[in-house]
Amino acid sequence: MALTHNIRLNVNGRPYEVTVRSTDSLLDVLRMQLNITGPKRGCDEGECGCCTVLLDGRAVVSCLVWAPLCDGREVLTVEGLGSPENPHPLQRAFHEHLGTQCGFCTPGMIMAAKALLDQNPTPTRQEVVEALAGNLCRCTGYYKIIEAVLAAAYGDGDPRVNSGSRSVFPGLNRYQW
Ligand code: FES
Ligand code: FES
Repeated sequence: MALTHNIRLNVNGRPYEVTVRSTDSLLDVLRMQLNITGPKRGCDEGECGCCTVLLDGRAVVSCLVWAPLCDGREVLTVEGLGSPENPHPLQRAFHEHLGTQCGFCTPGMIMAAKALLDQNPTPTRQEVVEALAGNLCRCTGYYKIIEAVLAAAYGDGDPRVNSGSRSVFPGLNRYQW
């Protein structure tokens, strides 16, 4: 029988007190107890990045974070970024640059991108690629996701947004990345 722990955590600016099992992950708590379903359960073993959230400002894969260790911590999920009426610049850019197709990877991509831009508001294309390396997408081919992050950082008119990928990945055309 699993032990239980009472923890307090703050999610998207709202305080919660929950009882978790010693076998629960942060992703379990968010999705199953708090009904916060932006973080997705893809692999459940730290490989796909679909469950990425910010924990005290750092990007983590929530499926690998032990829930009892979240006592007293601050969690930010994609739901806490913006609203349909007032989207976060990353949410707007993903929408406008077609950085999302089926959408399953998108919450994790956006949170990983937010962690990057919080630390480095003016990343190079290569730094964006590296920051998202732990997030898998089966649909977009990544190119539009990278464009969206650069657009959120620099604005649509900046040449870095539409500079293509050949300089970063010689030999690959823009539709391969
Ligand atoms: Fe957490 Fe895949 S569900 S990394
Ligand atoms: Fe479908 Fe990325 S948009 S997995």
